[in-house]
Parts: sequence; C-alpha cells; structure tokens
Amino acid sequence: MSVRNVVKIGSETLRKKSKPVVNFDDSLHTLLDDMKNTMEEKNGVGIAAVQVGTLRRAIIVEVKEGEYLEIVNPVIIKTKGKVTDSEGCLSIPDFYCDVTRPKYVMIKAQDRNGKEFTFEAKDYTARCVCHEIDHLDGILFVDYTDEGKKYRSKFEGK
Ligand code: CO
Repeated sequence: MSVRNVVKIGSETLRKKSKPVVNFDDSLHTLLDDMKNTMEEKNGVGIAAVQVGTLRRAIIVEVKEGEYLEIVNPVIIKTKGKVTDSEGCLSIPDFYCDVTRPKYVMIKAQDRNGKEFTFEAKDYTARCVCHEIDHLDGILFVDYTDEGKKYRSKFEGK
C-alpha cells in the first residue's frame, strides 16, 4: 500500500467524469488500498479515486471512527430531508463553507469483489457519501455556493 498524491483544484482531472469499474481485480484492490492509505495520511473522512488521479467510480467513506466503507459504482436511490453544514475537501486545502445536502441517503453499489449491496447513511455520513459521489461526476462542493464559486475562481478562472 502506498500514499498517492492528491489532485488539487485547478487540475482538469477533477472535472472529468469517472468511468464505471468493470474489472474487480488486483488493480482495483490496490487502488482502494492506496485511497484508504492516502485519506488516512491526510486525515480525510472520504476520498474518491479521481482524487488520486484514477477516473474510476470508486469512493471510500469513513462511516464510523476508524471504520471505512469501500463503495464501487455507487448510485443514489433515495434521499430525504436537507441539512446545511460546513464542508471541506482534500483537493481544496484550507477552504470550508456551508453546503446543503440530504439528511438521509440510500445508495446501491458494489464492493471490491463486485458483490452488490445497499447502504443507508444519515447526517454527516450522508454528506460524505454525496460529496464523494459528486467527485465521480466532476462536481466539487465549491460549486454549490457563491462563497465557494468565488474561491473556485482563483483556481479555475470562472
Ligand atoms: Co472532496
């Protein structure tokens, strides 16, 4: 396992759409292991494959203190409610702002071996799941608010 470089805002990679994982092989397992190592090293609560430069639909979310869930090919199937809370991102160092997200989310996804599962999350974990799934579609949390867009413009010029 190794710690990989985290792609930062300003890189076009972060704006690309990630492709579905089709091979649940050693290279996927290495990717997931490295993502976990990288998020732990950087004290993140979630990470998407694109943040280590790999455009595949894989994310990891810390669901409890020290407990990580690997989520491959996630699809949101249900959301409920709204909560506004402060958010940050490993790819956008030293910037935080309030973002409104669902209070509850249900997803379906696959594990590292391709086995399908559903997962329900609420509050901060639901926020993390939605934030990481956004990464797979090239969306960053700064896209949601005027304050975020202003900060984004320093790196992306728009
Ligand atoms: Co992020």
